[in-house]
Amino acid sequence: MKLAARLDRIEPFYVMELAKAAARVAAGPLCDAAQGGRRMIRLNVGEPDFGAAPAVREAVARVAQGPTPYTDALGLPALREAISRWYAQRFGLAVSPDRIAMTAGASAGLQLACLALFERGDEVLMPDPCYPCNRHFVTAADAMPRLLPTGAAERFQLGAQQVRDAWTPATRGVLLASPSNPTGTSIAPQVLADIARFVRGRGGVTVIDEIYLPLSYDEHFGHSALALGDDIVSVNSFSKYFGMTGWRLGWLVLPPALVPAIERLAQNLYICPSTLAQMAALAGFEPASIAEFERRRNTLRERRDYVVPALNDLGLTVPVAPDGAFYAWMDVSRHHADSWAFAHELLQSAQVALTPGRDFGLADPQRWMRLSFASSMEDLEEAMRRLREVIA
Ligand SMILES: Cc1ncc(COP(=O)(O)O)c(C=O)c1O
Repeated sequence: MKLAARLDRIEPFYVMELAKAAARVAAGPLCDAAQGGRRMIRLNVGEPDFGAAPAVREAVARVAQGPTPYTDALGLPALREAISRWYAQRFGLAVSPDRIAMTAGASAGLQLACLALFERGDEVLMPDPCYPCNRHFVTAADAMPRLLPTGAAERFQLGAQQVRDAWTPATRGVLLASPSNPTGTSIAPQVLADIARFVRGRGGVTVIDEIYLPLSYDEHFGHSALALGDDIVSVNSFSKYFGMTGWRLGWLVLPPALVPAIERLAQNLYICPSTLAQMAALAGFEPASIAEFERRRNTLRERRDYVVPALNDLGLTVPVAPDGAFYAWMDVSRHHADSWAFAHELLQSAQVALTPGRDFGLADPQRWMRLSFASSMEDLEEAMRRLREVIA
């Protein structure tokens, strides 16, 4: 079958490939208790182990009893209003519900934003490492992602001078994430402000993925880029803080002029996000749900405080402690020259699944691995014990 040429530029999502390899080992003798095996500890997954808030689970059961018609392409008005109130309460920001577009996860939000803003001949700057799908959203819009190498000194984020130096007449904007996947590190507020000002001055657009922002552990970094102006495109999601990965619900906050374009695209591409998910998600803004999410955030912070020093002790060095999300980005070069091979060896020798750096960028990926501390403390402690054995 003849495939469209754009497919040549879209690689597999290797995070998922590693997950498949982990599942194969988990189904085999090494993980079979009857044969003296032990269970696989999955620290490769990008999702918390908590699930949706109790009120959201109750709401979905209730809502499913009644009619669940299509909503507006931009989403359920009550949910857009609830999100607007959340921005006011949580971040002290006035974000009009009219600028909020509900999407089928941050993934659909990123896709819609890229389709609306970028086209053939355009370049989009992004940090290396970054979320692997970002470059493919840009590619799927026929534009060109340009990954700029970053290091620990910049918290693995773009620098303002770096963006200035890299900008060409073809550059249309920057695609950032703060806190970032895979590093859990945020862009410094002043750097972000400088980048946004420069990009605006060049007539470009700043798109920033803030899906991990509610899972910030550091006052200094925990601010939304939306404070920088109405021209920022912010991507958000119910997947992480709200614990609703499989529900496929997220949102965009858009410059007012972009709203009709996104609406038109969404109407045609998928009509609306899941009505069931949208109706139930409203319960995620009840005070009891928010209190639950905040408890979870504290739990994740405790896990970070345990796991980062433990990794450093093992020589799996985390050069910048994550200030948000639930990822530690570690340099494994003291123990192995190739993180892809190392990750596969660890499946066999320790039954611990970690994500190799390969997916996240092109600069030195074999040096890096991502550990997700979204798993229970018990699992993290057991994983550290097993890694210690193997490394010793
Ligand atoms: C940085 C980042 N953006 C977007 C996504 C996709 O999120 P969603 O489940 O909302 O589509 C992920 C998922 O892991 C992510 O890490």
